[in-house]
Amino acid sequence: MAFEEKIKQLLDLRAQARLGGGQKGIDKQHSKGKLTARERIDLLLDEGSFEEFDMFVTHRCTNFGMEKKEILTDGVVTGYGTIDGRLVYVFSQDFTAYGGSLSETFAKKICKVMDQAMKVGAPVIGLNDSGGARIQEGVNSLAGYAEIFERNILASGVVPQISAVFGPCAGGAVYSPALTDFILMSKENSYMFVTGPKVVKTVTGEDVTDANLGGAMVHATKSGVAHFVSDTEQEGIQMIRKLVSYIPSNNLEEAPLINCTDPIDRLEDSLNSIMPDNPNKPYDVKDVITAIVDNGEFFEVHEKYAQNIVVGFARFNGASVGIVANQPKYMAGVLDINSSRKGARFVRFCDAFNIPIVTLVDVPGFLCGTGQEYNGIITNGAKLLFAYGEATVPKVTVTLRKSYGGAHDVMSSKQLRGDINYAWPTAQVAVMGASGAAAILYGSELKTMTDEQEKAKFLAQKEQEYNDKFANPYNAAKYGYIDDVIEPRNTRFRVIRALQALATKKDSNPMKKHDNIPL
Ligand code: HXC
Repeated sequence: MAFEEKIKQLLDLRAQARLGGGQKGIDKQHSKGKLTARERIDLLLDEGSFEEFDMFVTHRCTNFGMEKKEILTDGVVTGYGTIDGRLVYVFSQDFTAYGGSLSETFAKKICKVMDQAMKVGAPVIGLNDSGGARIQEGVNSLAGYAEIFERNILASGVVPQISAVFGPCAGGAVYSPALTDFILMSKENSYMFVTGPKVVKTVTGEDVTDANLGGAMVHATKSGVAHFVSDTEQEGIQMIRKLVSYIPSNNLEEAPLINCTDPIDRLEDSLNSIMPDNPNKPYDVKDVITAIVDNGEFFEVHEKYAQNIVVGFARFNGASVGIVANQPKYMAGVLDINSSRKGARFVRFCDAFNIPIVTLVDVPGFLCGTGQEYNGIITNGAKLLFAYGEATVPKVTVTLRKSYGGAHDVMSSKQLRGDINYAWPTAQVAVMGASGAAAILYGSELKTMTDEQEKAKFLAQKEQEYNDKFANPYNAAKYGYIDDVIEPRNTRFRVIRALQALATKKDSNPMKKHDNIPL
């Protein structure tokens, strides 16, 4: 073959590979309102930065006539490129080729990018749109999944792993995204479930649609499987680019520092009046967050799940932080099973990837009742406690209002290695609220009282005494549990100063194989 012909052959093969399962499949994908695997990569990566691997890979299966059905790339597009100039590795499942189903060679392609990402210390982003295990390949497909799972596990805490689900993701295939740090689902066309509606109907008799069983909203609100949900694929891909901007490329690096245009000493007067006079009245803690962070920009994680705790990324003076805040607007900001799990996972991500944690506390305690106890609030609450206690990144805490009971300890208290702990003058650090405390402390006196009016008056007086003593930050500050009581409007400046002081913090945990967090 002449030299020119060889070039032509290469270009033809490339063109063929770029068509994946063919134009008909691409049209079908578009008709469902979905992008193709390559269109997704083009949107995700900086223009012209994508370098593809393994375009010429084909499967090796000869079952069920598969030897006659060869598609270049074998249903997954893999390689590397950049996001805002930073290296990332990517795989994008191509539904036009065998329904994006996973074969032995498909798995090998994914493993190759994961292995290389680990060697160079770069995030792995997986775009999922697949019919699951390639049925014709049987056990080889299952082995392929397991190869990927093992790499997901070994990469956990070393390089960030991000999954987007833009189509089906069913059966054991769900477990690769589940092993990654973040899952994004687009509202249309994406679903994740271990067992689909047809099998559910046979086994449990339940009638349920794909969307109601495992759609984006189900996983964003009920199961917490999805950290992010987007209206469209395009929006979802932009969200991934944004997420990447807040996190480092690996566990030995720090997140990128952005030039800060927001004055670090900006006083936010609104915070001096944000707190309602009545301590049982809610306010929106997100107003506090956006008031203090750079340019009011807060990138929330798990926005729709366990809303009694708010977690997400922001920047102070251009540096990434993880924010954890109780949300008084939702269930009074109480800690329950779901919010504890949500908070713990986020704290552990930040700690694994050197992202300082800023905690805003307004917590009335742990949620009580049989529902919580039977489902393990003890074990689940302990997760958040454990996550904070083991975290060695800089931790700055600001107590805004309530900090009661065990929940006080949990929320990045001094004794769980909180580095700098501030409180607003509105803070109340105590074992419990005044009414509960008075009822317990004076239970025997109350029992002897028969006149209800007298009882109420007595209780009110005792509650007042309790509040005078504990409904303030000064009792905790007296013991050094609070480093300073700060003016709310000056919170941004004080937090930035604290983070600057802690920038060179070194702390470590005892040597061990791994910990045994109460799972
Ligand atoms: C091989 C598959 C496939 C699969 C789809 N295709 N899934 N080929 N293995 N798992 C092929 C179809 O044959 C079809 O090929 C093309 O992909 C498009 O599929 P359609 O069915 O036409 O598309 P659609 O109507 O959109 O339905 C999509 C779907 C459906 C819901 C995903 O294809 C489906 O139910 N597939 C099977 C899902 C499944 O049960 N997978 C195994 C799960 S168990 P042609 O040639 O006609 O274009 C599992 C275990 C993993 O994954 C364990 C890991 C530990």
